[in-house]
Amino acid sequence: MTTNSESSAPPTANSTANVCLVVLAAGKGTRMNSELPKVLCPVVDRPMIHFVLDAADKAGIQKKIAVVGYEADLVRKELQTRGDDSLTFAEQTEQLGTGHAVQRCRDQLAGHEGLTLVIAGDSPLIQPSSLIKLIEHFQATRPALLLGTLTKDDPTGLGRIVRNESGQFTGIVEHKDATDEQREIREVNMSTYLFNNEDLLESLSKLSNDNAQGEYYLTDCARLLHEAGRPVEALPVLQDCESLSINNPEELQVVDQTMRAMGYA
Ligand code: UD1
Ligand code: CA
Repeated sequence: MTTNSESSAPPTANSTANVCLVVLAAGKGTRMNSELPKVLCPVVDRPMIHFVLDAADKAGIQKKIAVVGYEADLVRKELQTRGDDSLTFAEQTEQLGTGHAVQRCRDQLAGHEGLTLVIAGDSPLIQPSSLIKLIEHFQATRPALLLGTLTKDDPTGLGRIVRNESGQFTGIVEHKDATDEQREIREVNMSTYLFNNEDLLESLSKLSNDNAQGEYYLTDCARLLHEAGRPVEALPVLQDCESLSINNPEELQVVDQTMRAMGYA
């Protein structure tokens, strides 16, 4: 398989064979003001979730779990049109947060030895080349968690990457939970997480919902692992287009236009 008209070398079967994808697709997407679950809202005339799975396919990822919840049957039906036997489903009946969504995959991940890539279904501009860069860096350095990040001029609304004086990653703080000082940080979390599966399962069991939104945040796994002395690295490998995700109709329009200009149509 090729990688989207990009320069990065195609993955070797060896590098992606032990990667399992978890794609978060259970949310309603309240801010979209649509009847459809957010991940089924079309960009470039296709439900956005397809582009996320296409990117994983192009990166050579063979095992995939989609977490479905709001209008689960609709989302499942749409994804089944891909005819992909490697795609299975986990159900999150109540949307209690991104961490809770991944907790719903616990049984399916229990026997998995290797890496678990977690990405969001509302980010159709995710690039196969970035996923490959992250996987290769992970294979070379073997952290507990590797985050793909980037710096954004206007980071409003996004989780911020917090580092200490020596530049070492210490955690992710959600916009709603951030202090004024933390809101000045422009390095952001775009929900591109590559976990050592064992560390993921360990940190998921420690999540609490003690935050501004009363949700189980997947972002807290990063801090919990760091605090447990496990190596967590945030790597600014994402491209500018990957800073675009879809939370409202305006963002959907921007992503649609960007994707058409990039030749997705
Ligand atoms: C999340 C991140 C934030 C990051 C941003 C952009 C958390 C706590 N925050 O915020 O740091 O900057 O994405 O990548 O993770 N979903 C479920 N079940 C749930 C909640 C969400 O499946 O219970 C799914 C949604 O369908 C969506 C994805 O997870 O595809 C992200 O959820 P969303 O509510 O958009 O998170 P953000 O507030 O954008
Ligand atoms: Ca989002």
